Amino acid sequence: MRQSPEFFETTRTGEVLSRLTTDTTLIQTVVGTSISLALRNTLLFFGGLVMLFVTSPRLTSIILGLLVLVVLPIVLFGRRVRKLSRDSQDRIADASAVAGEILNAMPTVQAFTREGHESSRFGTEVEGAFSTAMRRIRARATLTMLAIVLVFGSIVFVLWLGAHAVLQGTMTGGDLGQFILYAGIVAGSVGALSEVMGDAQRAAGATERLLELLGAQSEIQDPLQPKALPARTENGARVTLDDVTFAYPSRLDEAALSHLALDIRPGETVAVVGPSGAGKTTLFQLLLRFYDPQSGSILLDGVDVRDLSLQTLRGAVGIVPQDTVIFSLDAMENIRYGRPDASDDEVIAAARMAAAHDFIERLPQGYSSFLGERGVRLSGGQRQRIAIARALLKNPPLLLLDEATSALDAESERLVQRALEAAMVGRTTIIIAHRLATVQRADRIIVLDEGKIVESGTHAELIALRGVYANLAALQFQTHAPVAA
Ligand SMILES: Nc1ncnc2c1ncn2[C@@H]1O[C@H](COP(=O)(O)OP(=O)(O)O)[C@@H](O)[C@H]1O
Ligand SMILES: [Mg+2]
Repeated sequence: MRQSPEFFETTRTGEVLSRLTTDTTLIQTVVGTSISLALRNTLLFFGGLVMLFVTSPRLTSIILGLLVLVVLPIVLFGRRVRKLSRDSQDRIADASAVAGEILNAMPTVQAFTREGHESSRFGTEVEGAFSTAMRRIRARATLTMLAIVLVFGSIVFVLWLGAHAVLQGTMTGGDLGQFILYAGIVAGSVGALSEVMGDAQRAAGATERLLELLGAQSEIQDPLQPKALPARTENGARVTLDDVTFAYPSRLDEAALSHLALDIRPGETVAVVGPSGAGKTTLFQLLLRFYDPQSGSILLDGVDVRDLSLQTLRGAVGIVPQDTVIFSLDAMENIRYGRPDASDDEVIAAARMAAAHDFIERLPQGYSSFLGERGVRLSGGQRQRIAIARALLKNPPLLLLDEATSALDAESERLVQRALEAAMVGRTTIIIAHRLATVQRADRIIVLDEGKIVESGTHAELIALRGVYANLAALQFQTHAPVAA
């Protein structure tokens, strides 16, 4: 929950899931069964040992000397079992990651008829997990075998000494019989303990990995002394970017944004346009502080976002992301995700604003209709309207719309457009859009290309400039109804 996006770019979901399920199950099994076994056998071991001493101190001292020979291989093999156990859990996690990816992309897999390929990809991973597990089991079996052979071997040796002692008359036959009984108990308990040891090493391997996950620190941390935002003004928030340069951690040599400077007044609506890959979504990621820029700073109402707690910062921002996310909840709860304490009426009002009310009413159970995992029961445009309603419900001073109307048909777009215009009152809005119909109503248009601002101004000014924007506009007007400049 506390990791930055960087973590999730490098770690696969299925892998984390496997850690949460198989690793914890393993630990649970080992703890649940092995502890009682260990307790019982420890008691038997020490009890047997004491009785051995009572019966024959001399023979027992020899046994104890030989015990060192037994412990050494157990420790050495124990380490190997632990490493193999960790490998084995890693392979299982890999297999889960592959399965998770395939299951999430089932329609695409089937549309491209790659079922066979994906099955064998999963098969390879499972085989890998299997062979590592086999190696682990072999190591563990060897460990147990070694322990038993050495323990019983040393006991037989000591008994042989004992038999000689009886023959020479320094020990009675009864004492030797007694000694044999206790030696059996001690040997049995050492055998069992070494098996428990193997299991404990397995659990240790799994625990290691879990602790690593728990210990991973996100780069993005709350400041030690978070500042507060100034009281909200009726116009919304002021956003300032001061010479911001940023490259994604996985692509440090290529700046996604370079030397970006921008000052957005409270209440202003700014449209960001530009070709795909220009850095528009990246700008939003920085505003939400999913990443920190390498240089420059981002200010919200004059406060550096790094001085705000993430809770405060993100609480002030409402976002409709490019890829909308629907939870497997009903429509009501999906919209309420933006503000958990909102009443049903407030949710419905937000849905109305986002032009989502009518289609939700027409769903089989209205607002209580389950929307399916990842919203599979909705169309792309419907999902977008749910996402817009969710952001509006939050009533944030800063609203970020990332191609929020891109999947809408002309009619719904007109409806949502009108709703959004109403929603933009009293807040600052940054809107990424491709359609000029959306863009030209903005107070200011920023044209972004390759991470730099190449043009900025109103629709009319940019058209007059005859630059990148005018070109974009001309292209769109050929296919869309002409719009007065
Ligand atoms: N998580 C990421 N890691 C590395 N590079 C990324 C990541 N996300 C986006 N990029 C790259 O950054 C650039 C800007 O991406 P983005 O801001 O998403 O563009 P757009 O303007 O289309 O929204 C692109 O070249 C993209 O390939
Ligand atoms: Mg984008």
